[in-house]
Amino acid sequence: MTRHVEGRGTHAAIVGWGKCLPPAVLSNRDLGTFLETNDEWIASRTGMRERRISHVPLGELIHVASARALACAGLSADALDLIIVGSTLGDELAPNVASGTQKRLGAKNAAAMDVNTACTSFLYGLSTATALIRTGVVKTALVVGAEAPTPFMDWDNRNVAVLFGDGCGAAVLQATSREEGLLAERLGCYGESRDILDIRGVGARYANQGIPCGYTSWNFDGQEIFKRAVLGMTKASLEALAKRGLGIGDVDLMIPHQANQRIIDAVGKRVGIDPSKVFVNVQRYGNMSAATVPVALVEALEEGRVRPGATLLLPAFGAGLSWCAHVVRWGERTTPIGASDVALPPCDRTGLELVNDLRARRAVYHQAAASFIEAARPLLDEPSA
Ligand code: ACO
Repeated sequence: MTRHVEGRGTHAAIVGWGKCLPPAVLSNRDLGTFLETNDEWIASRTGMRERRISHVPLGELIHVASARALACAGLSADALDLIIVGSTLGDELAPNVASGTQKRLGAKNAAAMDVNTACTSFLYGLSTATALIRTGVVKTALVVGAEAPTPFMDWDNRNVAVLFGDGCGAAVLQATSREEGLLAERLGCYGESRDILDIRGVGARYANQGIPCGYTSWNFDGQEIFKRAVLGMTKASLEALAKRGLGIGDVDLMIPHQANQRIIDAVGKRVGIDPSKVFVNVQRYGNMSAATVPVALVEALEEGRVRPGATLLLPAFGAGLSWCAHVVRWGERTTPIGASDVALPPCDRTGLELVNDLRARRAVYHQAAASFIEAARPLLDEPSA
């Protein structure tokens, strides 16, 4: 991190963008082959029709999306001073996921950090990178939103298994004197509600209870999450706009976290935006957690929905219950400078085959883990010396 820019008057323009969606598709009908559910229920309650299942570790999705974002910006990996990976369930805890991204890209000049605020992680990463660019600490940053929850998924729980998918999106930020990039944001958290959405079985708390890592179960109060998500995203949107003296009429496109079509509709209605100005792709990918906003941003650009100089509103929520909204001013360029030839290895299996494999592995692992927990219980119950 040797190159410095003046903090005063410096902004962080989004100059590159890229996505990576694994090719294997899992449809609502596929889910109905092993869960008591159907296309009609899932589509009418969530808007989702299909989602993607990764045949490779998350790090590979991140590498491809990041290489595409760099090529889009016309930059080499050497130009990066900072890599931030936003994710909830990365490949590893230590070392972090961002250092693996640095290694894969060969971004030898970049510092590397992870951010975990669940589904809002990309946007919290955008805030962090923008602040570090504005203050002159770094000049060029890669911000990634990535999630592959499917290896940890509670596949036999229809309340959650139908909602999620794998994917990754990335953005390159660069210092500029032009007033572009993040104009304002509002970050928040309803910490008192953190128990309405938790993934049990990953973390020291569970290790201390003798629960092996990966013995996961998803605990979820869908209706409570729904209410707080709408509340938090609405509040954040209106307050972020107000910080810059803007109103909803100034927004050209809202690109919200894609957790549920009905949540998006409810937020849109409360903030008073015309539905034609809301970008939705939840039908294709389900909820990819930290990846939804950057992937939607890339697709909005690909579909010509982001015009030069546009004002974007990006509201999101996630476990915690974290919430936020970001107001972004787009620059002049809406097309990539270049393309990358980095790609995923081919996948010769269907989404359903991949999921059935994950389910079989999970059943074996859970059986072994249940025996371990039973054996460990008396030892853990003994008072420590
Ligand atoms: N297929 C068929 N029926 C189902 C399914 C399913 N996949 N899932 C639940 N049901 C049943 C329930 O068992 C319930 O049956 P019952 O009435 O006999 O008990 C019935 O459908 C209705 O369930 P509700 O909870 O009332 O359904 P609701 O309309 O609230 O929709 C949903 C549920 C989709 C989960 C919704 O509440 C939601 O989207 N909440 C937000 C969830 C979310 O976004 N979570 C992501 C957070 S991301 C992160 O940070 C990790």
